[in-house]
Amino acid sequence: MAVALLVAAGSGERLGAPRPKAFVTLAGRPMLDWSVAALRAAGLGEIVVALPDGESAPAGCVGVAGGVTRSASVRAALTAAGEGDVVVHDAARPLVSPALFTAALAALAGADCTVAAAPMTDTVKEAGPDHRVTATLDRSRLWAIQTPQAFRRSALERALDVGDDVLAQATDDAWLVERVGGSVVVVPSTPANFKVTSPLDLRLAELLLAERSIVQAQPE
Ligand code: CTP
Ligand code: MG
Repeated sequence: MAVALLVAAGSGERLGAPRPKAFVTLAGRPMLDWSVAALRAAGLGEIVVALPDGESAPAGCVGVAGGVTRSASVRAALTAAGEGDVVVHDAARPLVSPALFTAALAALAGADCTVAAAPMTDTVKEAGPDHRVTATLDRSRLWAIQTPQAFRRSALERALDVGDDVLAQATDDAWLVERVGGSVVVVPSTPANFKVTSPLDLRLAELLLAERSIVQAQPE
C-alpha cells in the first residue's frame, strides 16, 4: 500500500489570511481536511502531514515539522513515512478527487513518477525582460502541472538526496526526478483541481465545495 505525504507547511503569503493557508476554514472545515478525506476515500490510510509552526495534524495522521521550502517539507514528511510507493499532495488543492490519487498511483506501473496535469487552454508565449515576444509554444504539447504526484519510493529518495539549494529551485518534486534522469508521465486531470493561492481562489473553492455538499445532501 502506498503512503501519502500532504504538504501543509506553507505560510500562505499570497492569500494573506491570519493563519497558515492549509488551516484556513474552507466550507466549514480546515482546508487540509478536504484532501485528507479524499486520500482516505482513495484507500490511502497512512498520511504524513508537513506542518507549519503552531499547528497539529488532523486526527489519524502523523505530523512532522515542515521545511523552509516546499520540497524540504516533502523530504521531512518522507522520513516519517513507512514502506511503499509515495503520493505527494498539496494541502492547497482541496478539490482533488479520490479517483485522481488512484489514477496517479496506477500509472506508476510505467514510470518512476506520475504527475496530475491539465491540458493548457491559454496560448503560452515566451518574452524577454523588455516584454518582446521571442516564441509561441506548441500548446498541444503543454500541460499545467498539479498534484497529486506519485513516486516509486527509490526514485523519490534518490531525487531528494540533494543539497538545500537544489531543493529550493524545485517548483515541483517531479523536476527533481527528471534532473537525475528518471521517467515522468502525465496523468490527465482538470482545471477543477486548482491550487488555492489568492483570495479569489479561496472564494471559488468555497462555492464549489458548498455546492458539492448540497449535491451530497440531496435525497435519493
Ligand atoms: N508548502 C510546504 N512547505 C513550505 C512551502 C509550501 O509544505 N515550506 C506547501 C503549502 O502548504 C501548500 C503547497 O506546499 O500546500 C503549495 O505551496 P503554495 O501554494 O506556494 O503555498 P504557500 O507557500 O503556503 O503560499 P505562498 O507561496 O503564497 O506563501
Ligand atoms: Mg509557496
